[in-house]
Amino acid sequence: ADVAHGGQIFSANCAACHMGGGNVVNAERTLKADALASYLANYDAGHEAAIAYQVTNGKNAMPAFGGKLSDGDIADVAAYVEDMAAKGWA
Ligand code: HEM
Repeated sequence: ADVAHGGQIFSANCAACHMGGGNVVNAERTLKADALASYLANYDAGHEAAIAYQVTNGKNAMPAFGGKLSDGDIADVAAYVEDMAAKGWA
């Protein structure tokens, strides 16, 4: 996956709600590593796959991107989120 391209996808599609790895809609549900581990289904089984699943399908107030972004773009943005979470979004 292309992390740099994922960063562009993130800025265009995710940052409105998840600026800096936060969450303006539901403040607990950030994109920080501890929140991913706590709230994201099947995160232990594969970090990027779990992120990609939620992006594709949405959850509650988060919209689904499966009809909007290609599978490749979703894989790239998942790799970006995982990379940033590992760095603490610093
Ligand atoms: C949760 C990624 C776009 C609102 C999450 C989570 C991930 C994620 C990985 C799980 C984290 C957690 O629950 O702590 C993304 C990506 C996006 C995107 C990569 C762009 C492709 C958006 C947008 C919104 C949004 C545009 C607002 C309109 C939310 C909300 C949750 C959430 C409300 C919590 C869902 C719940 O469990 O109830 N997001 N997101 N997200 N996101 Fe997004």
